[in-house]
Amino acid sequence: MRDLESAIKVFDIGLYVQSNGCFVATENENIVGAGCFYIYDLLAQMGEVTVIRTHQRRGIGTKIAVTLLEELKRRSVKTTYLDATDASYRLYKKLGFREM
Ligand SMILES: CC(C)(COP(=O)(O)OP(=O)(O)OC[C@H]1O[C@@H](n2cnc3c(N)ncnc32)[C@H](O)[C@@H]1OP(=O)(O)O)[C@@H](O)C(=O)NCCC(=O)NCCS
Repeated sequence: MRDLESAIKVFDIGLYVQSNGCFVATENENIVGAGCFYIYDLLAQMGEVTVIRTHQRRGIGTKIAVTLLEELKRRSVKTTYLDATDASYRLYKKLGFREM
């Protein structure tokens, strides 16, 4: 189930792997989404962007993904890859990701 618990779990795992690569989206100080990246030199993997079900389809997932990409650019990462899900395919496509 994709809910607050799973968003926090994603965040916890990401923090463990790369402590400075995770971001959360909040509303009224409550976490409503999360996303992480893992940098390998000039290459990065984007971790699961997750938005709690009650807050989906309001642009939050896009905002998290854009924030991650801006931060990766700031850190001089040249290439980012990810495994898209059915739910996230459109989101990433609109941000310019291409299928390999
Ligand atoms: C994928 C996910 C993060 C999208 O978050 P969101 O806040 O709902 O996304 P946005 O509101 O920014 O929508 C971005 C685009 O994705 C589309 N989209 C959102 N949810 C979708 C779904 N379940 N199925 C198909 N398309 C979907 C939206 O329609 C939108 O496209 P549009 O602007 O052309 O209408 C969210 O559905 C989620 O947490 N899913 C479960 C976890 C998951 O699959 N994460 C992705 C891992 S790579």
